[in-house]
Amino acid sequence: MNAFPAVDPIPLPAPVWLFKALHVLTLALHFISVEMLLGALLVAVWLNFRGASRRGGGASSLRLNAAAVIARRLPIVMTYVINLGVPPLLFAQVLYGRALYTSSVLIGMYWIAVVFLLMACYWLLYRFAAGAEAGRPAWWLGALAYLLAAVIARIYSTNMTLMLRPEVWQAMYSTTAAGTHLPPYDPTLVPRWLFMLTGGFWVAGLWMLWLAGRRTIEEPVRRYLAANGGWLAALAVSVQVVVGLWALSMQPSVVLDGLGKNQICRIAGPLWLATVAAVFLFGAWAALKKPNSRAVGYVSTVLALVAMLAMAFYRDGLRDQTLLSHGYDVWDRAVVTNWSVVAIFLVVLVAGLAGVAWLVSVMMRAKPVVEKVA
Ligand code: HEM
Repeated sequence: MNAFPAVDPIPLPAPVWLFKALHVLTLALHFISVEMLLGALLVAVWLNFRGASRRGGGASSLRLNAAAVIARRLPIVMTYVINLGVPPLLFAQVLYGRALYTSSVLIGMYWIAVVFLLMACYWLLYRFAAGAEAGRPAWWLGALAYLLAAVIARIYSTNMTLMLRPEVWQAMYSTTAAGTHLPPYDPTLVPRWLFMLTGGFWVAGLWMLWLAGRRTIEEPVRRYLAANGGWLAALAVSVQVVVGLWALSMQPSVVLDGLGKNQICRIAGPLWLATVAAVFLFGAWAALKKPNSRAVGYVSTVLALVAMLAMAFYRDGLRDQTLLSHGYDVWDRAVVTNWSVVAIFLVVLVAGLAGVAWLVSVMMRAKPVVEKVA
């Protein structure tokens, strides 16, 4: 028996491929900001802790300044985490609503708790940034913010794995309809969550290489960011590959067989591996050379974008393959394309992107202010 609720009788207003393309694209952008937040927050916490606990030397000043450079940008990163999370949520609901709504309702209390965890995390980020910018020991505020962000990530991982397990839904709902019950043990959950947490560190390393190219930051701090960002990227990307292989090895064999035949995964998998290998080499080179040019920042951006897109495509194939093994074919939908609505959507999308580009250009042209802890 197919465990998924009946499909909505209203047909999709645009082709499945268009929804999928928009979903993967926006999700890759959400993942870049999530990884920046998760990794860089812990880096800033560590730097503030080390800098404040051993005051006096040049190393302490470098650490406090580097922590402040990162921490003051984190509330802005959080804005992107949230705003770039909404579009993939909408696209995912259109494509996978029958599975995603069910799992969200089953863990409803945790799902709703994200709103409050998010608000507390955001508030802590502002408090941490203010303390770090003043050169005060504020690491514990940042550590609390990290804890909340990691819990949010865990709730998302729990939901995204529960939506793939229709066989446990009925028993969960029979136990309680209040949404307070977490799913039974799933071997894919922990590696999947850790995959996202470890990914944060190499993205943070690449971001530090980008920051090293900013002229508003004093020269020694830029060199410090470049060297440490380089080795962090090289080290963390190696750890993430191991965790990724672990996550893959936990998948059922029927899914692994399907992945081997999935055309998109056959391209996305090797592309991801090639890109993370490039991140490793680039990070190692930066750790030795301590570069502080804008060009290095642009290379970092391209590497992060390509790796995250490849990962989002692969993850998409993995989900489709798992759902297919339960009888859910995401491509099997009635579609009546309403091209005028699609056209309006695309016009608004391009206008929105142009607006963001204009805002970024205004920011780039603004008079630079030297960044230094108080
Ligand atoms: C601190 C805040 C957040 C963190 C740390 C976070 C982290 C994550 C992580 C780790 C995943 C991947 C889960 C997995 O597949 O194992 C994820 C997926 C996702 N997140 Fe976020 N997230 C945050 C906020 C948000 C917000 C505010 C939204 C939406 C309003 C959002 C929307 C999504 C969506 C839609 C997905 C998965 C989409 C899909 O699988 O198709 N996230 N998030």
